[in-house]
Amino acid sequence: MSKPLTILGIESSCDETAVAVVRRDEAGRVEVLSSLIHSQVVKHAEFGGVVPEIAARSHVETIDALAFEALKAAGDVTLDAVAATAGPGLIGGVMVGLSFAKGYALARDLPLVPVNHLEGHALSAKLTEKVEFPFLLLLVSGGHCQLLIVRGVGDYERLGTTIDDAAGEAFDKIAKVLGLGYPGGPALEACARDGDASRFELPRALLGRKDCAFSFSGLKTAAAKIAHEQVKTEQDRADLCAAVQAAITRQLVERTGRAMMLFREQNTVKTPDFVVAGGVAANTAVRTALTDLSARHGFTFVAPPLKYCTDNAAMIALAGLEHFAAMGNMPRDIATDIRTGMAALARPRWPLDEHSAQNAPVYKTQGRKGAKA
Ligand code: KG4
Ligand code: ZN
Repeated sequence: MSKPLTILGIESSCDETAVAVVRRDEAGRVEVLSSLIHSQVVKHAEFGGVVPEIAARSHVETIDALAFEALKAAGDVTLDAVAATAGPGLIGGVMVGLSFAKGYALARDLPLVPVNHLEGHALSAKLTEKVEFPFLLLLVSGGHCQLLIVRGVGDYERLGTTIDDAAGEAFDKIAKVLGLGYPGGPALEACARDGDASRFELPRALLGRKDCAFSFSGLKTAAAKIAHEQVKTEQDRADLCAAVQAAITRQLVERTGRAMMLFREQNTVKTPDFVVAGGVAANTAVRTALTDLSARHGFTFVAPPLKYCTDNAAMIALAGLEHFAAMGNMPRDIATDIRTGMAALARPRWPLDEHSAQNAPVYKTQGRKGAKA
C-alpha cells in the first residue's frame, strides 16, 4: 500500500505542448485524469522540420490555457506536486515548460519535480500496462534511438544509442528528400505500402560491430542519391520508401536482438518485458517485426497506446510521481523545494545513464558535443 498521489505534468521539450494530471491510488493503480496535447506540427510543416524558435514561442502562447483546460478536465483534484520536463530537448521549449511549472508550484505552494524526458518515455508503458522491472526498452523517436535496461525508477543502463541520426529523424529526412512532407514517418509508411522493398539495395550500417549502436546517416545519403538519380515515377518512389522502411526495421530488429541476449546474460527473469516507445513505434512494419523478435527471444512485447508512445505529459507526470513517492514524506519547506526542483535548470542534453554516456567517445560535459541522451 502506498500513499495516493496526484500530480500535474508539463511537457514542452519539442513541438508538442502537453499538460496532464495523473493519479496513483493506494493499491498502485495509475489513472490518467486528463492528458491534453497541443501539436505545433502545422507551424513547422512548411520548414520540413521543427524550428526551435517557433516551437518556444508557440509553447509560451499555449501553455497557460492548456494547463487551465487540463486541470478543469481532471475535475476537483488536490495536487501533491508538479512535474515538468527539464531536458533533454530544445532548450527554449524546455525553459518555457519548466518556468511555467516553477511559477505554478510556487503560487500553489507545491513541490516541483524536474523530470528527464527520456525517463518519461521509459516509464510510459506503466500508464496502462503492468510492466515488471527489470525490462528492456527500445526508445525510437524523432530525437532518440536507444536501447536501455530499465532496472527500476532512476536505475537505467544504456546498452546502445545512435552515433548519428535517430530512426525517426531518418524517416523524416528521407521523406523530405522524396517530397513527402512533414512529419515524414507516417507519409513514408503510407507510400511504402505499394512498394517492392527488394528493388533498391541500401547499405547496412556498422556491419561487423557486435554492439547495440545504431547509425542511419549512411542510409540517408544512399537513399538521397537513389532518389535524385533513379526515382522518376510514383512506383519508383514507393519502391524506395519500402526499401528504406525495411532497412530501418532490419537495423532496429538486429540491435534489439543483441540487446535481448545481453539482457538475458545479466538477468534471470524468465519472460521479461520488452517495451517499445517513441513515435516510430507507430510504424506497422517496425511493430510487427519487433513482435516476432520478442516471441523468438521469449520476451513479452509491450507497446504503450500510441497517445502515450509519442510525446505527452502523462508520462512526465508519472515519472515525476514515481520520484516524488521515492522521496518520501519530506517536509515542504524551501530546502525541499530546492532539492526537488526549484533550482533545476533546463538541460538540452541529459543522458539517462550518465555512466555509459561518459564512456562514449564523443562525450563532453557541455556544449554540442555533450551526450545528447
Ligand atoms: O516520439 P515522437 O512523437 O517525438 C519525438 O521525437 O520525441 O516521435 C516522432 C517521430 C517522427 O520522426 C515521426 O516521423 C516518427 O516518430 N513517426 C513514424 C511514424 N509515426 C511517427 N515513423 C515511421 N512510421 C510511422 N508510422
Ligand atoms: Zn520524446
